[in-house]
Amino acid sequence: PDQRDALKARIKQLMKEQDAVLVAHYYTAGEMQDLAIETGGCVSDSLEMARFGHASKAKTIIVAGVRFMGETAKILNPEKRVLMPDLHAECSLDLSCPADEFAAFCDRHPDRTVVVYANTSAAVKARADWMVTSSIAVPVVQHLKDQGEKIIWAPDRYLGDYVQKTTGADMVLWQGSCVVHEKFKADGIRELKAQHPEAAILVHPESPAEVVALADVVGSTTQLIKAVQQLPNPSFIVATDIGIFHKMREVAPNKLLLEAPSGGRGATCISCAHCPWMAMNWLSRLEQALTTGHNEIHVPAEVGARAVHSINRMLEFAG
Ligand code: 13P
Ligand code: SF4
Repeated sequence: PDQRDALKARIKQLMKEQDAVLVAHYYTAGEMQDLAIETGGCVSDSLEMARFGHASKAKTIIVAGVRFMGETAKILNPEKRVLMPDLHAECSLDLSCPADEFAAFCDRHPDRTVVVYANTSAAVKARADWMVTSSIAVPVVQHLKDQGEKIIWAPDRYLGDYVQKTTGADMVLWQGSCVVHEKFKADGIRELKAQHPEAAILVHPESPAEVVALADVVGSTTQLIKAVQQLPNPSFIVATDIGIFHKMREVAPNKLLLEAPSGGRGATCISCAHCPWMAMNWLSRLEQALTTGHNEIHVPAEVGARAVHSINRMLEFAG
């Protein structure tokens, strides 16, 4: 513990010297989330991370999360330095959607509005009309549908399927998936619910349709945390990355929080519902990044200048 405290103190000192603010996602380690709060930064879902980074006056924004989150911060703040603890923190959705293949896909459907999930590269966002996060995908697509628009959706096929069913919009879907959420098992969740009939089932919409169908609440990480705080249920079955339990325990210490089974039928798997890339955000790597100045995010200026429109549209829509 003394070593961890010393490490945290060094990071805080470096952050102060470099006028840096830390924005962390709920799937990162609890100590990284705590550090963000202790240093006046924020812990949140992808939408709030983008908003917070955009509003911050700090010269350096540290993004503890995955690469697309760092790129979004850079696109919104091209004049600022954006650092990440580890630049190899990818996302299976982003990796599933190479920009050149995506551009060819869009070219095959020239009559459709292009909506991409935040979990994509800067180059894919540059090809899009809109970027959305999980917390706002349904209202944005509903708005587009109401205006008579047909849609290309990429890259998450499960989130796309959920949005399509919820809004009834005409959508062509890219076939990507999240390596964490696609493994949640409906059978296992039903068995756990039978043992805890009073539990509410909370599901992130990157999960397969049969898992989403069991949910009492479907939402972004922030929305699922709010549900734990606000619903009267004494227990919850949670189908998203286990990093989220850190904040859920803090906001609802008296509630029973259960991991949704992931991996095998009926099996509760302690570590498989954890994103391998979010797990790369170590405090020691953050200290290294601040000490060496390595791990800076760069987005080519012409790509950023195009991508910023799709992001700003969402931020303006969100209000
Ligand atoms: P949220 O925007 O809900 O935090 O989701 C980001 C993510 O990567 C989920 O896997
Ligand atoms: Fe990407 Fe899934 Fe990891 Fe989120 S949890 S960053 S969607 S791989």
